[in-house]
Amino acid sequence: MKSDEIRSKFIKFFEGYNHKLVKSASLKTDDPSVLLTVAGMQQFKDYYVGLKNAEKDFKSKDVITIQPCFRTSDIDEVGDEYHLTFFEMLGNFSFGGYFKDNAIRMAYELVRNEFGIDKDRIFVSIFEGANGILRDEESEEVWKKLGLKSIKGGGGFWGPGFGMNLIKPGSLKDNFWGPTGDTGVCGPSTEIYVDGMELWNIVFNEYHKDVNGKLHLLSQKGVDTGMGFERLVRIVQGKKTVFETDLFKPLMDKIRELKVSDSENIKAERVIADHVRGVVFLIKDGVRPSNIAEGYILRRVLRRAIRYCRLLLLKDNFLEELINVVINQYSKYYSFNKKEILNVVNEEYEKFKLSLDKGLKEFNKRIFTGKISGEEAFLLYQSYGFPIEITKDLAREKELEVDEDGFYKEFEKHQEMSRKGAGMFKSGLKNHDEKTVRLHTASHLLLAALNIVLGGVEQKGSNITPERLRFDFNFDRRLTKEELEEVERIVNKKINEGLEVKVEEMRYKEAVKRGFKGVFEGKYPETVSCYSIGGFSKEICSGPHVSNTKELGHFKIIKEESSSGGVRRIKAVLVDLDDLKLSKKTLRNIEKAKAEIEAGKFHTLSQLEKELGL
Ligand code: ALA
Repeated sequence: MKSDEIRSKFIKFFEGYNHKLVKSASLKTDDPSVLLTVAGMQQFKDYYVGLKNAEKDFKSKDVITIQPCFRTSDIDEVGDEYHLTFFEMLGNFSFGGYFKDNAIRMAYELVRNEFGIDKDRIFVSIFEGANGILRDEESEEVWKKLGLKSIKGGGGFWGPGFGMNLIKPGSLKDNFWGPTGDTGVCGPSTEIYVDGMELWNIVFNEYHKDVNGKLHLLSQKGVDTGMGFERLVRIVQGKKTVFETDLFKPLMDKIRELKVSDSENIKAERVIADHVRGVVFLIKDGVRPSNIAEGYILRRVLRRAIRYCRLLLLKDNFLEELINVVINQYSKYYSFNKKEILNVVNEEYEKFKLSLDKGLKEFNKRIFTGKISGEEAFLLYQSYGFPIEITKDLAREKELEVDEDGFYKEFEKHQEMSRKGAGMFKSGLKNHDEKTVRLHTASHLLLAALNIVLGGVEQKGSNITPERLRFDFNFDRRLTKEELEEVERIVNKKINEGLEVKVEEMRYKEAVKRGFKGVFEGKYPETVSCYSIGGFSKEICSGPHVSNTKELGHFKIIKEESSSGGVRRIKAVLVDLDDLKLSKKTLRNIEKAKAEIEAGKFHTLSQLEKELGL
């Protein structure tokens, strides 16, 4: 069966069960919890929580997509039989329509009847229960009714190829999916494995995880599934690896046609194929090579592909030849601007090729004693633009190891230095003493917390002295005591979480696209500094800020009043408990409260004050 047919069979099958085919989303995403689209469910998040209505928008509660996805999580595995960075994901979704029984039955029917996969090659996993969430017995029962046998407890013998059809209990890590960031929909999953390879993940979105990490049952239950298309094609076409399927064959043939090196380097060929496909789709969706965020993901895979191409292939325009193959193959389903893709790739190639050669010379000159240190790997990154993946490839070829953790430590140290530098040279604020800086960071947390509690809040002004912050925002009534306490609670929770404050430079347009909030619309320079606090707050701002929210102490609102029509004003302070003169008993109580806070129980400062008799 050709991959085209497999694709349309999937669509027809679910259309037969009244699903609507929805257009896939771009790889470049507005979702602040991830850098790129990593799953089909991302574009549907609002439908799971009832913010949007699927029946209204799609004329059905049940939909399907074929979603291009990009994940760096498996990048080290690319080159084996089936791991990829870029892949298409086949998914069926339900927003309050069917649930476990139907989802499992349809999946099994498609796999067995439509794609003819033998029962003996299949085993499935179900969520075994953890963290107060019960074992997914409902899914287990459905599988049993379908004829799969279950083993309870440990010590069982499971696996493919033994003529047994088994249900394997899976952990929180493997059988509980989501949320994609800190908060959002999530739930237990059941996975279908074929010949030991995970093929299809079927997630039951029963919960919503809030900012405190608490799970709440969703009033409407949802289904989110993802089946790796390349993996499915591998199985249906009976190939040893995904690279021999008709999805990869034209590209692999081209790589071999261009190859001049005699050395057997199957892994490199496969990495080129995987990365070139990813590069084409990332650029098509508007990602451009850079040193930050998704731009750096593109740069990493593109540079790694360039290095392998220069090692193995014949002509200088190899990239163009390979890109042509990908575009020809996929233009039936996606539209590409070939000229633009080639321009971006060629520009990056020209930028990198000289430093690549220099870096390789430097690498070959050096004598490594068994291990490439973090500093050495960082030097290759900083001086020659080598992503860590290239250094790891080079190390593997010489049977060396790389201190990857050390590399990231160096990386962070460097960022820390540039953050300090940015703070020193790029200030907006007049008063930079430590207290003002802390209050400034607190005002970012305050804005984000106000948005959680009230929604739609924008900053209308701010003034900070070493003693207090003053913050104006749009809202048309007095805030209730409960609302103020909730705001305080959220800010203090974020302080206690010890979130890292990160700064990145980027173009204003990109900052807006990536969800960084600005205060003065349209009055920014082309390049702006963007501060993010652990994914919780994202603001365009000239700083400076503390580097970790832990440094803030306790946040306390002292006044809430009207500032002008439709604008409210909050005054707040940061209290350093260590500064207060406290009795032994109070200190003991503070220790107790701190332990409780660490264990996840939250106190607002006013509660604390009352408890401690301050
Ligand atoms: N969202 C689920 C996954 O990506 C289906 O595995």
